[in-house]
Parts: sequence; C-alpha cells; structure tokens
Amino acid sequence: MATELPTTDIRISTEAIRRRKGGTPIVCLTAYTYPVARLLDDHVDLLLVGDSVAMVLHGHKTTLGASLEMMIAHGQAVMRGSARACVVVDLPAGTYEDSAALAVASARRVVDETGCHAVKLEGGVDMNRQIAAIVDAGIPVMGHIGLQPQSVEKDGGYKIKGRTEEAVAALLRDALAVENAGAFSVVIEGTVETVAADITRSIAIPTIGIGASGDCDGQILVIDDMVGLTVDRVPKFVKEYADLRGVISHAAETYAAEVRSRTFPGPGHVFSATKSRDDA
Ligand code: KIV
Repeated sequence: MATELPTTDIRISTEAIRRRKGGTPIVCLTAYTYPVARLLDDHVDLLLVGDSVAMVLHGHKTTLGASLEMMIAHGQAVMRGSARACVVVDLPAGTYEDSAALAVASARRVVDETGCHAVKLEGGVDMNRQIAAIVDAGIPVMGHIGLQPQSVEKDGGYKIKGRTEEAVAALLRDALAVENAGAFSVVIEGTVETVAADITRSIAIPTIGIGASGDCDGQILVIDDMVGLTVDRVPKFVKEYADLRGVISHAAETYAAEVRSRTFPGPGHVFSATKSRDDA
C-alpha cells in the first residue's frame, strides 16, 4: 500500500547513492506514472523514468520513440508521486549525442521542468564530453553502458555485450570513461556476468545491473516487466514477482460478465433518492 507522501524533504541524494559503492545493494526500478511512483517510493532507493516508457506505455517498437516532452511529462508525474527516492530521468535519443552544448541544454530542461535529481544517458568513451559538460553544469549524471537500447537499430538487435576479449576491453574503457567524466553511477545492461562483476570491482562509482551480475552495486528492472504486466516478450533477465496480466484480465472478464448479466452496478454502486444514505 502507498503511504501518505511526507511533506518534509527526505530525498535520497545522488551523493548518497554514490556512497553506497560496495555497500548494501541499491534498489532501483523504473516508474513512469504518479500512482506507480506512490506505490514504489517506500521500497526503492532510486526511481528511473526510463525512455523504455516509449515501449512500455506508448507501444513504440523501440525506445527511439521517446521524446524530451514525453520524458518531461512522465518525470513530472513521478516527482509528484514520490517523496523519498532519488529520481533520474533518461535523456532520449537525439537530445544529447551531437554536442556537449545540446546535452547540457536538454539536461537543463529536464531538471528545470521536472525537479528530478539527475539525468541518464547512454554511451561510454563516445559520450564522455557530454557527461562531463552536464556534470560541470551542476547536474548529476548516471551513465549507461553495455547493451544500449537506443543503439539497437544500429547494432542489429538486442545483443549481449562482452563476449570477446576486444568487447570486454571496450566495456571496461566505457566504464572508466563514464567514471572519469564525473557520473555518480552507471547502469550496466545486457552483459556477460563475469564482465559486469569485473567492471564493478574496477571502478569507484556504483554499478547498477540489468541482465548483468548479482555482484553489481545495485539492480534495476522495468516495473511493468517485474509485475507481470508486459504483454510482449519478456527478456530472460527479468524475474516476474507478480502476475498483473492475469489480475487485469480476470477483473475485465468478471466486469464484462456482470455488465452483460446486469449484476453490475448493484445497489451499492448507484445513488438513492435519500441524500443521507449516500453520504453514509
Ligand atoms: O529506459 C530504461 O528503462 C532503462 C533501464 C532498463 C535501465 O534504461
């Protein structure tokens, strides 16, 4: 159950997340809406308004369907629904890659219009100037290396990273570049388990794994995947902790049967002529 939102500021800061390196695992989930943020806020350290929202809530085939406006609208909803978690919003594809100035302008807009604590962007060595410029502008950055969903068309699909010696060396270079550029943490996605564990030991900022390793400093999953709401293919690395597909289908089936048999609405769901009875 969601508890009342506290009125005092007890937010977990990006600095507090950074200090958790090597400590108690950092619990992260994606969130895109007010009610889900309300439900998750008590249980997680960090909520990511991921560009996966384009696929999960808007039905796009890839995360390339996300826009800055979409991320800002969902970022605002998640900020309204949370009081405790550190909130990070993804910079969508096309809003940061071309230059450090563009990256700073996009990050500034996201933070100013949502009040979130940090932005996340995909890339390692190739994005270190963008990360450094955003950090220099006073906005904390979470990196994202390994499988990068924004590059899925370029890469020809969702491919696990770190299967060759060359790929392992490239991943480590990416992790170090993100750290040296000043990021407070880095997501490692879709990577051979031992490689993600080695990277975690090799850098001083927390690693947040998804399809990576239990040795990462924290874990993240897409909320709809982990509650069993995803209607399309669920990736191998997901553990479904609930079956909301089943719950919603069953509720809709029961409602349809009751409407057709005129058992809904019943006496408890209509208004009587006597006002006092409705108020009771
Ligand atoms: O967009 C997203 O949800 C993400 C997570 C999978 C890390 O980037």
